[in-house]
Amino acid sequence: MTTSRSDWARIEPTEIPQLVTETVPGPTSEQYNRRGMSHMVGYSSQVRLCPVVFARGHGVTLTDVDGNVYLDFSSGIYVTTLGHCHPKVSEAVAEAAQTLMNCHDFNTPVKVELLEKMAQIQPWNLTGIQLYDSGTTAVEAGLRVCRAATGKSEFISCFMDFHGKTGHAVSLGKMTPASGAGRSQGFYMVPRPDPYRPLFTREDGSIDTDAYLALYDQFIECATTGEVAAFVLEPVQGWAGSVFPPEDFFPKLRQFCDERDILLMADEVLTSMGRTGKYFCMEHYDTAPDVVTLGKGFGNGFPVTAMMVSEKYRDAIDAISASTSYGGNPMACAAALASIQVIEEEGLLENALDLGEYFADRMETMKQAHPIIGDVRVKGCLAGVELVKDRDTKEPFPEAGKLVYQRAFQKGLAWVPAGHILRMSPPIVMDRAVAARGMDIIEEAIAEVAIELGY
Ligand SMILES: Cc1ncc(COP(=O)(O)O)c(C=O)c1O
Repeated sequence: MTTSRSDWARIEPTEIPQLVTETVPGPTSEQYNRRGMSHMVGYSSQVRLCPVVFARGHGVTLTDVDGNVYLDFSSGIYVTTLGHCHPKVSEAVAEAAQTLMNCHDFNTPVKVELLEKMAQIQPWNLTGIQLYDSGTTAVEAGLRVCRAATGKSEFISCFMDFHGKTGHAVSLGKMTPASGAGRSQGFYMVPRPDPYRPLFTREDGSIDTDAYLALYDQFIECATTGEVAAFVLEPVQGWAGSVFPPEDFFPKLRQFCDERDILLMADEVLTSMGRTGKYFCMEHYDTAPDVVTLGKGFGNGFPVTAMMVSEKYRDAIDAISASTSYGGNPMACAAALASIQVIEEEGLLENALDLGEYFADRMETMKQAHPIIGDVRVKGCLAGVELVKDRDTKEPFPEAGKLVYQRAFQKGLAWVPAGHILRMSPPIVMDRAVAARGMDIIEEAIAEVAIELGY
């Protein structure tokens, strides 16, 4: 049973998907792509592998320019958590667009209401708030706060985490030859525990989180100047393929940081605002960060992000100044406030948790049935399926990942690829029957591709 009251988004599972062209993408998509792709370059693999051109979105569905209707398991890219064009959010943005679009960082009634609401939903003591316009700018601001608060300049982040694409944000993640001039000075990376591919285990096979922390200790001593301002982590790795830490990792890391006067910055751009069934994913781990960044689902499609800082460091946040051209503009604040109100009014945190239980059961059953599935993981509506060539060696199976992504898309499921890992971020407004429709498509695609690849 679901507690969702998102009637505007309700749809009969038998009604979706609806495919009207012989091939996906259809001919009109192809025409638009010829035009668009002759100018814009650098599309994501999500687009390259299935270049459909979308015309409309409503709730849990997306419609392309040929009239094909897809079930959406992507939320764009973890963004439209409440489904596409929630009427309350769209109306709030439209009203602001007709009333006042920008007044720098002056307060407005809707901004004040948003700030009060944010202070009310956060479970810790994150009373210092600034508003930004992308996840990356919020992360950059978070780093500045950590420096201002500690007087220290270095950062430690984790292998395969992703935090954005500008100078310092990109220095927190995996570098590629095209990332620019290389990692900025004072940015270091360490491995974090991946329960499916652990580096350190105890004799009973459990993840040895203490061994990770011992490594961090040694790393700080040998690789840094000792002036570490903060550990910066995603609570759950999104881009890396929905990788969840062991339960004891964050509580122990919190203690580790406290003992060394290091701040803990949780980049919740992807994981917050109901995605995992809580406003903040760190709530699952009962760990209070010092700095938090929010984005994506925060405005449910409107570009609005935030950084929140613990009461203790309010002076530091004051020192870095909240002024930007677009951060906290009235449309952005209206979108974010309406999104939180929708989550509250429609009981969507509970619905996301309920869906998570359904996904967990269903994915576990799928894993039993299909040997190319090495691992499945889920919290709320954030999920991943890891495909492997062999369960013993855990060798990644990127060929299967690509084909399963494309096959499911061609069957009418919009979702997110990541090499050999299939990523799912369905809107949290769906019910179990619609979620089941999406999982049926995924399972069919996995079964077909496994046979085609000789498994
Ligand atoms: C955890 C995390 N932080 C930061 C970012 C950057 O956000 P944006 O793309 O809005 O700049 C992303 C984007 O995917 C993200 O997943």
